[in-house]
Amino acid sequence: MEDKIKSLLKNFPSELDQITDKNSLENFRIKYFGRKGIIAELFEDFKKLSGDEKPKYGKRLNEIKNDLQTKFDGKKLSVESEIETTVETIDFSLPGRKYGQGTKHILSQTMNEIMDVFIKIGFSVYEGPELESDYYNFEALNFPEDHPARDMQDTFFLSKDFVLRTHTSPVQIRLMENKKPPIRAIMPGKVYRNEAISFKSYCLFHQVEGLVVDKNITFAELKGTLVYFLKEFLGKDVKYRFRASFFPFTEPSAEVDIWWQPEGKEGRWLEILGCGMVDPNVLKNVGIDPEVYTGYAFGIGVERNALRKYDIDDIRTFFDNDKRFLVQF
Ligand code: DAH
Repeated sequence: MEDKIKSLLKNFPSELDQITDKNSLENFRIKYFGRKGIIAELFEDFKKLSGDEKPKYGKRLNEIKNDLQTKFDGKKLSVESEIETTVETIDFSLPGRKYGQGTKHILSQTMNEIMDVFIKIGFSVYEGPELESDYYNFEALNFPEDHPARDMQDTFFLSKDFVLRTHTSPVQIRLMENKKPPIRAIMPGKVYRNEAISFKSYCLFHQVEGLVVDKNITFAELKGTLVYFLKEFLGKDVKYRFRASFFPFTEPSAEVDIWWQPEGKEGRWLEILGCGMVDPNVLKNVGIDPEVYTGYAFGIGVERNALRKYDIDDIRTFFDNDKRFLVQF
């Protein structure tokens, strides 16, 4: 008895699965539920059991029978409805289904466009980690111990010694530790700042860092390269200005603003990059002799360039993930 039940429970579902048409459905029904079928046979066997074995099997057999009947009925419905669909409702003249294709996010596109300008004039591409140590993010870049940028205001500290990088400049250090001059590289990536969020600032943004180190590199080359970039990327008539500035890792340092006037808004200057001549202390930190080599560096803000290029008036729209905005690009 026990063996018969076991083999019934094993074979029933696998044979039921194989049914695809009305014929095999009917054969299956006769085999299991027919008057002389496997289930009827089990009930015959049951009658022959001794008095004390009967209670053990009676209830169980009925449960099994009901369960198998439900499964069979389900299958019957699906076979019959499938047959109907195939015969009656498929319209072979309908056009095929179109699958929507995603597009590149506007920020990825802008980042690639910025990088292309530099790749075409001989810059290689390097990347570094977003989780950075205090040493790479600050110390090696000549930030004094008590510099305000280390303050909780600007930096997301993960622990005393680790931060979410606040700029891509630490990748300069990693690169110079591993590669001797001549160096001509860009380093794209995400950066994080614990800043007040507004139409022009967000807690997360992207930068493209640049670094050139060789003999006789001058500020004139830095300026020439950046003006070339601005004209290639934003058009020949781009309105820009260089302003003297300060960064611990460059001397002299400058910032570049571009004129930004989104449709229907008042125009204003928008800072889009910092740059300068690599500070001799930074070169010393990575074992490059500042008496022999000089270099320039820059860090370009990707979002702000995208605001200007694509006539967008608020940086937060890049991060809202509103499809109506994203599909426009
Ligand atoms: N790291 C600076 C910032 O995020 C930007 C910058 C300034 C990068 C001067 C540089 C540089 O490489 O030389 O504000």
